[in-house]
Amino acid sequence: MTRAELLEWLRGADDAALFAAADKIRRERYGTEVFLRGIVEFSNHCVKRCRYCGLRAPNTRAQRYRLAPADILEAAALAARLGLGTVVLQSGDDPFYDRETIAALVRRIKREHDLAVTLSLGDRTDEEFACWKEAGADRYLLKIETGDKTLYERNRPGERIEDRLERVRCLKKYGYEVGSGVIVDLPGMDLEILAADIETLAGLELDMLAAGPFIPHPDTPLRSAPQGLLAPALRTSALLRILNPWANIASTSALDAAAPNGRKLGLNAGCNVLMPSLTPEKVRADYAIYPGKNAAGIQDNVRKLQQDIRELGLEPSNSQGFARRSSYVRKSPPGRQAGDYAGRTP
Ligand code: 5AD
Ligand code: SF4
Repeated sequence: MTRAELLEWLRGADDAALFAAADKIRRERYGTEVFLRGIVEFSNHCVKRCRYCGLRAPNTRAQRYRLAPADILEAAALAARLGLGTVVLQSGDDPFYDRETIAALVRRIKREHDLAVTLSLGDRTDEEFACWKEAGADRYLLKIETGDKTLYERNRPGERIEDRLERVRCLKKYGYEVGSGVIVDLPGMDLEILAADIETLAGLELDMLAAGPFIPHPDTPLRSAPQGLLAPALRTSALLRILNPWANIASTSALDAAAPNGRKLGLNAGCNVLMPSLTPEKVRADYAIYPGKNAAGIQDNVRKLQQDIRELGLEPSNSQGFARRSSYVRKSPPGRQAGDYAGRTP
């Protein structure tokens, strides 16, 4: 797909055609299955100062918490009991949980449950990435947020986009399934930047992708910036599907913050993954990356998502849900490639 075509889709030239094309590719790869990943947000401490995020270190209004390993293990057990095939361990950039603590958690979860384990712990060292893979971790999520150097470095003070991209590439070398993504409508992002970000993500050939709209948080410097809209985030998700047919693409909870039923609409625009929070009730409301996140209780939330999936004619799957790269290549009939849709003019 050329840059000009990407931009036309992003401008909303024909959303119905775009979402239908993305939905078709998702169905070819994944059928009606939607993977559920239980996410355990085990610490909201963060040493970073991202200007968009409620967990940023300078936010003194955040109620900070750290879960003990026993609580994290209990949440992982809940993932298994609820039939979710994957547990995602996520935190701010919090060095309190050192290499060995995380490795021990991963080993225990892999030993005790039939679960895929995804880590989302921010920028850690090569030694840590290698150790956790060795301990049995299956996947790692590290969002680029935006690939635009100026925008990235303005919003993530002290960080360099080149380092972030290098870390994503490095994770692939260690054998993880690797995921990344962007915040759509981050203040200062225009459609040219968004189109370039979509190309950057596609160029990384990732296993997992996500695009969520920017949601302003009142205790951050971007409190007065306009909220991201649903449509551009859905268009981005659909374009990511078309350019990365094999990838698992999450319908993010930020879509729900942008519009009622946002996540459901994501499942009609090429997404095939939902990530309900399993963070224990006593702290879950404090994992406030943006307002409204984690408002509902655990079981209710999972049940609601399963119901949403069925209402769309799809099936909540309890498989571990690895990316489907090779199977499709083998099954793919000649002349039926993603490019057929990608090349179509709106
Ligand atoms: N709006 C939307 N998404 C956000 N994130 C952080 N802050 C915001 C916000 N204000 C996303 C980032 C980060 C993930 C944990 O949450 O993509 O990687
Ligand atoms: Fe920390 Fe991640 Fe929030 Fe940045 S986006 S402040 S690294 S939790």
